Amino acid sequence: MFVETAPQPARTAGVVKIHGPEAFAGMRAAGQVAAACLDMLVPHVQAGVTTGRLDDLAREFVFDSGAAPACLFYRGYRHTICTSINHVVCHGIPGTRVLRDGDTLNIDVTVIVDGWHGDTSRMYAVGETRKRDRRLMDVTYEAMMAGIAAIKPGATLGDLGHAIQRHAEAERFSIVRDFCGHGVGRIFHDAPNILHYGKPRDGMLLREGMIFTVEPMVNAGGRDVKVLGDGWTAVTKDKQPTAQFEHSVGVTATGVEIFTTSPAGLHQPHQTPG
Ligand code: MF3
Ligand code: CO
Ligand code: CO
Repeated sequence: MFVETAPQPARTAGVVKIHGPEAFAGMRAAGQVAAACLDMLVPHVQAGVTTGRLDDLAREFVFDSGAAPACLFYRGYRHTICTSINHVVCHGIPGTRVLRDGDTLNIDVTVIVDGWHGDTSRMYAVGETRKRDRRLMDVTYEAMMAGIAAIKPGATLGDLGHAIQRHAEAERFSIVRDFCGHGVGRIFHDAPNILHYGKPRDGMLLREGMIFTVEPMVNAGGRDVKVLGDGWTAVTKDKQPTAQFEHSVGVTATGVEIFTTSPAGLHQPHQTPG
């Protein structure tokens, strides 16, 4: 028996797509489901809950929204979200780990709506957190937004990366270099790579219609990371805490559109109730 596969748009190496209005509408719809999923999780991020439970809630929410979880079975990954706690930089795997007072974690979700990928992540705080950890989360959010604010036709990817790096390094935090943002659309991870550091006027010129993620990982200590034996979990080498935020965005005629804004206004780092 044969199953007909939907025509898959090719990831043509290095070619950066220029998208039209239907793509922007599709990305808006997908981005809003992804952001609503992160909103839904806010009251559930509490001491005593497992990351596996958060994953179950996210998966149910995504399917109930008429969307599909992009990470489920992506390159062998078996979950809807990534849950990256404390010194886990990204791609933490949900499971039996119980959240404890003082943990900070990133939850990253990508959903597919009508073929379009909405990819976003935020930091969550469990109970009372350390002042330094809250500062790291705030600065990471501000750094992402500084990068996004640099986006407009005629600016470069170096301008974007520089704005992020400058903001984080002014606080003596460091930018992870081993992971980057990416083109996104009908393809989950497409060209170009979006580096979260750089030099003004360096790199590719931004043009109206480009769609990509901005997802800086910022470390309290050194920038070096390593991937654990499970093949996914990336941690800081010095075991110092790390933070990440992610938006999916599109370059417009005059600037930028953020597709993954929080419907409930919960994007900024916050203390979780309870
Ligand atoms: N959402 C992640 C990103 O920002 C990718 C996760 S891939 C997974 O690109 F397989 F680990 F889920
Ligand atoms: Co993501
Ligand atoms: Co991404």
